[in-house]
Amino acid sequence: MANMSVSPVELLLVDDNPGDARLVQIMLGGVGGFRLACTGCLREALALIAARAPDAVLLDLSLPDSQGMNTVDAVRKAAPTLPVVVLTGLDDEAAALQAIRLGCQDYLVKGQGDGDLIRRIVLYAIERKAADEERRRSAEQLKRIQRQTVRAVSLTLELRDPYTAGHQRRVALLASAIGEEMGLLGHVVEGLYTGALIHDIGKIAVPSDILSRPGKLSDAAFSIIKEHPETGREIVQGIEFPWPVATMILQHHERFNGSGYPGGLKGDETILEARILAVADVVEAISSHRPYRAALGMATALDEIETNADSLYDPVVVTACLDVVRLNGGSAPWESRPSWE
Ligand SMILES: [Fe+2]
Repeated sequence: MANMSVSPVELLLVDDNPGDARLVQIMLGGVGGFRLACTGCLREALALIAARAPDAVLLDLSLPDSQGMNTVDAVRKAAPTLPVVVLTGLDDEAAALQAIRLGCQDYLVKGQGDGDLIRRIVLYAIERKAADEERRRSAEQLKRIQRQTVRAVSLTLELRDPYTAGHQRRVALLASAIGEEMGLLGHVVEGLYTGALIHDIGKIAVPSDILSRPGKLSDAAFSIIKEHPETGREIVQGIEFPWPVATMILQHHERFNGSGYPGGLKGDETILEARILAVADVVEAISSHRPYRAALGMATALDEIETNADSLYDPVVVTACLDVVRLNGGSAPWESRPSWE
């Protein structure tokens, strides 16, 4: 953006009516502070935007080579951060409002106002666009920090517990692939990935000798392990995730027929994300290597969920999981990288 106290504002005026364009030029010439480039068609406007990177554009919507929202779309696509003030004839006012909804900063009705008004509207548009961009950058940064924090928390647990090294990330990759296969919205799938990445966080409260103990656990040790979904829920429930992460964690050991823990919940008494997480968790655990045993393999894992579809696992989720593995050439997508990472 130009430093307005020193250099003039570079303004691109796009209007195919020479009389209207001339009037704006004269009015802005009167107030000063602007350097104008003018054109009457979209094609040349886009070329000028690319060549000169103006500070703002005054944009007539009906041009010989583009009409209405197409004009707005073309300019916004070519220069997403360029402030746009729509220049409209009176009967275009509805279109001008629509343009604001599409991201233009303001609109001017032709023939109304003087140079001071145009100047003010353009300068405000530049300021508003800069503030919008700053807000957008901050929101993106916050989102990145949230993802990085979740990853760091996930790694913290896995550093302590060799049993879960890499487990949560692989479960997250498989769970989100199942969610995508089921046609869930991108936002829901990202929540699933996030919850899966920290689904065993409650194990931080389980003594590490119990976690890494090979062989069958005593009843006492198992009852301690069984507390981890509730501990996990307690750890994350104060975080305002835009997804039901705490519930996913709490319910990931529930089973479809009510035989799981901690709640003994059946069927859709648990949330769908938890039922997906349960399947991904079991498939990863069976198919991957553990410190005390070799990997049992994907075939064994798929056999487990297929045999127990409808009893232990949601059959719809099982079908989607089988499809994911089949479409991935017989293995789970452990190596893929989600688009939001
Ligand atoms: Fe678990």
